[in-house]
Amino acid sequence: MENQYTLKLCEGELERYKHMAGTAKEGELDSWRKAGILPGARAADIGCGPGAILVELARLIEPGGSIVGVEPDTEARSIAAEIISKSGQTNIELISGDAESTRLVPSSFDVVMIRHVLLHNGPRTKAILKHVKSLIKSTGHLYLCETDLTGYRQIPFDNAQENLWNRWLELLTIQGNDIQIGPKIGHLMVEAGLELVERGARFSIVDLNSGFRPTAWAAKMAIIDAGLAGEEDFEKWEDAYQKYLDIPGEKLLFVPHFWAVGSLP
Ligand SMILES: C[S@@+](CC[C@H](N)C(=O)[O-])C[C@H]1O[C@@H](n2cnc3c(N)ncnc32)[C@H](O)[C@@H]1O
Repeated sequence: MENQYTLKLCEGELERYKHMAGTAKEGELDSWRKAGILPGARAADIGCGPGAILVELARLIEPGGSIVGVEPDTEARSIAAEIISKSGQTNIELISGDAESTRLVPSSFDVVMIRHVLLHNGPRTKAILKHVKSLIKSTGHLYLCETDLTGYRQIPFDNAQENLWNRWLELLTIQGNDIQIGPKIGHLMVEAGLELVERGARFSIVDLNSGFRPTAWAAKMAIIDAGLAGEEDFEKWEDAYQKYLDIPGEKLLFVPHFWAVGSLP
C-alpha cells in the first residue's frame, strides 16, 4: 500500500518529538511499567519515528532488556540512529519495516508499543492490530497511544491557524483516517481480540513561544500536493503566525493523548 504519511521532519518537529517523549514519560510512566516496561524486558516500538520515545524506553528496561524500533521512513530512521548514538544506549536495534508486516519474531515480546501511528493508517488499522497482536508473548502486552485531532485547544484562539489545521484534518479524512481515533483505541483492542488491561488519558501543554508549531505545519507539502491549499495560503498563514507570536503573553496548545494496554485472553 502506498505510504500516505503526511508529516515531514524538520528542526522544530524534532524538538516537538523530544518534548512529547518527555511529557509521555512523565504522564504515562506507571502505565508503561504495568505494561511491562521493566528491567530485562524485550520490547518493540513500532513506527518509532525519530526515536525520542525509543531511547526513553531503552533506559527503563535496563539492565538486561532490549528494544527494537521499527520505522519505514529513511529520514526518520537516520535521525533516530543519530539520537540513539548520542544517547549512548546499546540495547536498541533500529530496523526498517511496516507495522502490518514487521518480520519480527512472533510471540517474542513482553511489550509492543505503537504511538501516533494508527491515526495515519486508517484503512489498515485492523490488519496492523492483527499483526502486532501476533508479536506479543502469552504474558505480554500491547500498548497503544493516539490523539483526537478535534480535541486540541490553542489559547488564545487564532483563526488563521485553525484554517490551516482544518486543511490537514480534511486531508487525513480523505485518506480514510479517523481523526478522533484516540478515545477509541481501547475498543479497537477488544475488537482485535485482546483483553483491555488499562486505559488512560492526559493533556500535554505546548508553549508555542518556545518554537514549537502546531503539527499541521509539518504537513505543508502533503496539503499542497493534495490541492487543499497553495503556497500563497501558507504565506498568509505564516504572516498571521508571526503576528500571533508577537502578541504579548502566553500562547499555549493543549494536546490530548489517549492510551490503552491490552493482553492476550
Ligand atoms: C507521528 S510519528 C510518531 C513517532 C513516535 N511513535 C512518537 O510517538 O514519537 C508517526 C511515525 O509512524 C511512522 N509510520 C506511519 N505509518 C507506518 C506504518 N504503517 N508502519 C510503521 N510506521 C509507520 C511514520 O513514518 C512516523 O515516523
